[in-house]
Amino acid sequence: METIPPKAAIPPPASQPKREGRMPVNRMPATIKIAETDAAPHKPGLGRAAYESHFRTALDRLHGERRYRVFADIERIAGRFPIAHWRKPDGGTSEITVWCSNDYLGMGQHPDVVNAMTQTAMRCGVGAGGTRNIAGNNSPLVDLERELADLHGKEAGLVFTSGYVSNQAGISTIAKLIPNCLILSDAFNHNSMIEGVRHSGCEKRIFRHNDLAHLEELLIAAGDRPKLIAFESVYSMDGDVSDIGAICDLADRYGAMTYLDEVHAVGLYGPRGGGISERDGVMHRVDVIEGTLAKGFGCVGGYITGTSVLCDAVRSHAPGFIFTTALPPAIAAAARASVRYLKRSAVEREAHQRQAARTKVALEAAGLPVLHTETHIVPVMVGDAELCKAAADHLLEHHGIYIQPINYPTVPRGTERLRITPSPFHDDAKIAKLTAALAETWDTLDLPRAGTVFVEAAE
Ligand SMILES: Cc1ncc(COP(=O)(O)O)c(C=O)c1O
Repeated sequence: METIPPKAAIPPPASQPKREGRMPVNRMPATIKIAETDAAPHKPGLGRAAYESHFRTALDRLHGERRYRVFADIERIAGRFPIAHWRKPDGGTSEITVWCSNDYLGMGQHPDVVNAMTQTAMRCGVGAGGTRNIAGNNSPLVDLERELADLHGKEAGLVFTSGYVSNQAGISTIAKLIPNCLILSDAFNHNSMIEGVRHSGCEKRIFRHNDLAHLEELLIAAGDRPKLIAFESVYSMDGDVSDIGAICDLADRYGAMTYLDEVHAVGLYGPRGGGISERDGVMHRVDVIEGTLAKGFGCVGGYITGTSVLCDAVRSHAPGFIFTTALPPAIAAAARASVRYLKRSAVEREAHQRQAARTKVALEAAGLPVLHTETHIVPVMVGDAELCKAAADHLLEHHGIYIQPINYPTVPRGTERLRITPSPFHDDAKIAKLTAALAETWDTLDLPRAGTVFVEAAE
C-alpha cells in the first residue's frame, strides 16, 4: 500500500517554478464604457456592501440604457435540431424552435460528429490534462491541425480554445513579432480582433468598413513600414462580405500581410467549406486564415492557418496558447470529423443557402424590414432596444420561437434587430410558421415595416 509522507518530509523546490497565468488583466471591450462619475463612491472600510454597490451600479446602468441581457434557459434535443426544450422562468418546460443558432448547419448533432466525440471520450477520457506545454499534444489535436491546414491549403494550423482566443492571441502575437508593424483594421471587425490589435501594442489605423479606397489611402500613408491588414470575410451582424481578392491586390501592391477571419464562413462556403476565400478562388493569396470550430462545424474551438514558421512562432510566443489547457481530444476528434465531412458533402451547404433565401423571400413578402444580405444571415430590423426585446419575448412566449434580440454594443443604437439564421433543418413549414409569427408580433407591437430607414443614433 502506498503511504503519503508527512508534509515536512517533502523537500522544498530548489527554486519557485514560474507561475502559469500571470497575464495582464484583460480590458473591457472597446465598446463598453464605464462612466465612473455616476458610480457610488467607494468608501474604504465599509465591507462587502461597498464593493457590491459598484456591481449594482453597473447593472443599473445597463437596465437604465435598456440593454441588460437575459439569456433563455434552453436545452437542445439531439437528433431534432432546431427543436429545443425551454425551461421557463415559472419552472415549466415547453418545446421551442431555435432560429438564431450559429450551429449553422446543425453539425453539432451530426451522427459522424457525435460518434467521433463519444468514441474518443470513451478511449481517451474527457479532459486534455493541461496546457500543451505541460501535457504535450493530444493526437486528435495534431490530426485536427493537419485537417485544418489542408482545408485552407496552408502549411500548418494551430488550434486554440475558441475563435475569440485565436483572434486575440493570433493577431496580437503576429503583429508583436513584426518590428514596427502597423495594423490596418476594418471598422466592423469583431471584438476578438479589436482585442488582438490592442494587445499587440502596435500602432493601428482603422479603415472604413469594406472601403478599399480608404484602405489604400492608409496603406500609401504608411509608407515602407511592415503592415498587417486584419479583416473578416462575412460580417455577421449585417451579413455582408468583403472583397478578399481586392484586399489581397492592395496588400501585394503596398507590401502588407493579410489576416482574414472566416469565422462565419468556414464549413458554409467554398467547394470544401474553406470559406469565402475558397469560394472566390483567392484562399492561396491570404497569409493567415482564422476560423472557428463552433459555428459551421458545430463544436467548439478556434484556429489559425498559415505557414509552418508563422504557426510555430505563434505557438511559441502566444500567452493565449501557452497558458491555457488544450482543447480535449474528444472535442478535437468531433471537430475533425465535422471538417472532414463538410469537405466531402455540399448537400448541407446547398440546403443552407436555399432555406436562407426562402426565409428572406417569405419575410419580405410579409412586409417585414429585412436587411438585404448576400449571405445566410437574415437580420430583421427593429431599431429600438426595448421593442427588440419585447418582440423576442413575444415570439418565445406566444409562438415558441426563440430569436435572441441583438442590441448595443453588438450593433449601433438605432439598428437593434432580430438576427435570424436559417439552417438546412428549417424546412418550408417552419419558415411559414416563422413568417406568420413575426407578422403577428409586428402587428401586436406596432413595429416598423419594410421601407423604414434605420439610422444609427449618435453616441
Ligand atoms: C467574426 C467573429 N470572429 C470570432 C468570433 C469568436 O468565435 P468563437 O465563438 O469561436 O469564440 C466570433 C463570434 O461570434 C465572430 O463573430
